[in-house]
Amino acid sequence: MRLSISATAALTGWALLQTVLGYPGMKATMDELLNLKAKDCCKSDELLGDLVWLGKQQYSHVGRDIAKILGGDLSGESHEYYSRHLPPLGSRGCARDTCCVWQYIAYDMERLFRSRDGTCTDAARAAIRLAFHDAAGWSKYTGRHGGADGSIVLCPEELLREPNRGLEEIVQQTRYWYDKYRYYGISMADLIQLGANVATVICPLGPRIRTFVGRCDHPYPSRDGLLPSPLDDAHNLIELFRQKTIEPHGLAALLGAHSTSKQRYFNRARSGLPQDSTPGVWDVLYYYETLHGAPKNKVFSLPSDLILSEDHRIFPQFKAFAGPGGQEYWNYAETFPPQTTLLTRWWCCRKQDYAREYVRVSLLGVYNINNLTDCSKVLPPAILHWD
Ligand code: HEM
Repeated sequence: MRLSISATAALTGWALLQTVLGYPGMKATMDELLNLKAKDCCKSDELLGDLVWLGKQQYSHVGRDIAKILGGDLSGESHEYYSRHLPPLGSRGCARDTCCVWQYIAYDMERLFRSRDGTCTDAARAAIRLAFHDAAGWSKYTGRHGGADGSIVLCPEELLREPNRGLEEIVQQTRYWYDKYRYYGISMADLIQLGANVATVICPLGPRIRTFVGRCDHPYPSRDGLLPSPLDDAHNLIELFRQKTIEPHGLAALLGAHSTSKQRYFNRARSGLPQDSTPGVWDVLYYYETLHGAPKNKVFSLPSDLILSEDHRIFPQFKAFAGPGGQEYWNYAETFPPQTTLLTRWWCCRKQDYAREYVRVSLLGVYNINNLTDCSKVLPPAILHWD
């Protein structure tokens, strides 16, 4: 009996949706329904840092935006650009605009991260991994210790840890940039996170992730054992990310960064092999090839990616990202393409998942979120089409 009641309810809901869709004027209602569905599936929506204890009325403009992004009510992508002439570095005009020096740094990064054929370089993938490893040295139980605080570069002992192998070159490069621009008042923590966001958008199809500056540096090593191991099981990995306020849906979205990665040290015999066939492009092929397999001599899937993709909390997201409309769902598009089925839309909850989850990552362990400045305008334009 109970079964038949829920079946009837499901059918009624389905019929209601079909009716709503039949009337273009009711698009808002459809959006509301999608949002409602989004709220009850395994999304990360916890507040972070000082936003937790500040009252909403105390939020700055940036604090309000970040709270909305974390709650899933605002996109984590930006379409803002510098609208005026960039003042010379070192001038009073540049000193007056917090983002000015960051524009110069972004130009330097762009040169290193874009290859001649327009795809992103090894330095770009390394910068994305570096920023994740700096921020992920935090959990709800470490309090104010660790997180996106620059310690991965500032504390040489972090670099000696096994999970950070392979980051030596990008750490050296980041130190070089820091030494070049430190006199303009930048922090290492911001520099590392800007590096990831510039690198991501340089990869064709990569999102323009909203970029905030003003983090504080902490020259103390983060606690060991907070970074994920490729040999761990799905349960432990999901728990590890939950302790960073990242739910399985968010983890599935973030793992897509492996769309652009290459492993060098995990399996030395197959060093240099990427995790999908197109490592220079920020596409959803990674999801498809992790689920369905890829040419063995060209792609190496990490055991953690394989095991997570099969977990019942992660699999539906992998399938949705790999399927029709997956690129838009994972990334950058304002709307689903017309051919996307109703079922995919229903299942897919919210859009632009990677950017939203990465904004969260970039703020782990940051306790002055309300005072940050939005410098997204310094990012290079996104490359929205790629064959
Ligand atoms: C379960 C979680 C994760 C595990 C176990 C994991 C593990 C790994 C491993 C073993 C490598 C190869 C390192 C090497 O041998 O050179 C790698 C590379 C990489 N990872 Fe992850 N990762 C995880 C999540 C993430 C996340 C969330 C991001 C970004 C948001 C990320 C970004 C990258 C990037 C960009 C690379 C490529 C680095 C390069 O090519 O130099 N990973 N990861």
